[in-house]
Amino acid sequence: MSAKLWGGRFAESTSTLVERFSESVSFDARLYRHDIRGSIAHARMLAAVGVLTADDVAAIVKGLGDIEAEIDAGQFEWKTELEDVHMNIEARLTERIGDAGKRLHTGRSRNDQVATDIRLYVRDAIDDVLALIDTLAGALLDLAETEADTVMPGFTHLQIAQPVTFGHHLLAWREQLLRDHSRFVDARRRMNLLPLGAAALAGTVYPIDRARVAAELGFDGVTENSLDTVSDRDFAIEFCAAASLLMVHLSRWSEELILWATPMFGFVDLPDRFCTGSSIMPQKKNPDVPELVRGKTARVIGDLTALLVLMKGQPLAYNRDNQEDKEPLFDAIDTVTICLQVFGEMMPHVKANRPRMREAAFRGFSTATDLADYLVKKGMAFRDAHHVVGSAVAHAAKQGCDLSELSLETLQGFSPTIAADVFEVITLDGSVAARDHIGGTAPAQVRAAIARARQQTG
Ligand code: ARG
Repeated sequence: MSAKLWGGRFAESTSTLVERFSESVSFDARLYRHDIRGSIAHARMLAAVGVLTADDVAAIVKGLGDIEAEIDAGQFEWKTELEDVHMNIEARLTERIGDAGKRLHTGRSRNDQVATDIRLYVRDAIDDVLALIDTLAGALLDLAETEADTVMPGFTHLQIAQPVTFGHHLLAWREQLLRDHSRFVDARRRMNLLPLGAAALAGTVYPIDRARVAAELGFDGVTENSLDTVSDRDFAIEFCAAASLLMVHLSRWSEELILWATPMFGFVDLPDRFCTGSSIMPQKKNPDVPELVRGKTARVIGDLTALLVLMKGQPLAYNRDNQEDKEPLFDAIDTVTICLQVFGEMMPHVKANRPRMREAAFRGFSTATDLADYLVKKGMAFRDAHHVVGSAVAHAAKQGCDLSELSLETLQGFSPTIAADVFEVITLDGSVAARDHIGGTAPAQVRAAIARARQQTG
């Protein structure tokens, strides 16, 4: 006969192969704190509405607290034959406190229980992620301030385009991060509703007080529809979607850091403690941290994909498929968390090589557009100016020098309207300083953006 908590109608015990196949305790045990919190709130509510006695609920609350301590101390024996975290804890509770433990599950199902546990867990994960994003965004702001005047090439097509300031580049990263932040805040708000009360799928016959449980667990309210509540994992998908976008951003920054750290660019130096060496090539200092972040982005996108595909074929309401939500979700949480941690620690120590950045911008004819704009201001049509500057660039390239290194006389050979004031606009500093509007790369604008950011974040 079956020893399962649900074994009443079964004539033979579960195949050990099926036990091994269907268990989730090996990966959902990490929900234990949230499971216990949810159970305590549920039990207190049952007592408040008269379904459980005060003695029962006292024993349950005490028993669950003791079990949590047992698990914290690593003294809890998880049993595969009890399937999941929920039944492991419930069985242990009954072992410890007797019959009162058997009354805990009144008016509840594992379906609304697990939906509650995961929401509580993801909510905590979001709060951790938001704090880590704040730290990283702060590091970018500080570094942008230090590098507000640092001129570097800006790229399009990875070809040198126009000079920008490194501070401006760092603030671009920060903008991406702020949008990620708002996506997690959004996801948190949408998911912060209590599932308990949905029971298996249809609700429960007991006079439950869902609002009370919601308040105790810090939910903003209760879910509207029991079928939807036990079934959908869109909140987990939203977490993974926000995490994927965040990882895509970190991956793009990683790609830039990796390029910049090569001797060919030499724009930045990554701290030694964030790099590793080669077992064969003594000269190597490899940017493993950004490389791994770029690589781990693939995992998180995979996690998102797994959850989307997991959901797409499921009829209402709960299906066991949903047990497969946990590993991708936990993987996404763990991955995004550690990536934010390492980036948060590394970014403040990324050293800009200012002379190299300036030199690269100087050698790339990055102020050619400035010369064209100068000619336009002197009355030439932009398309003509574009052509004139093209010829000047070709000439300078042949001479192996920058436009600003050509003599006034030579420049006037391309257009007689060019005067000595041209050298104010075709230098690197003149070029960046001229882009002096909100969103522009001028050091003054970078400083203004930083000041606005500091005012907002306090
Ligand atoms: N371990 C299950 C899960 O993660 C818990 C819910 C099981 N419910 C059920 N009716 N078998 O989804």
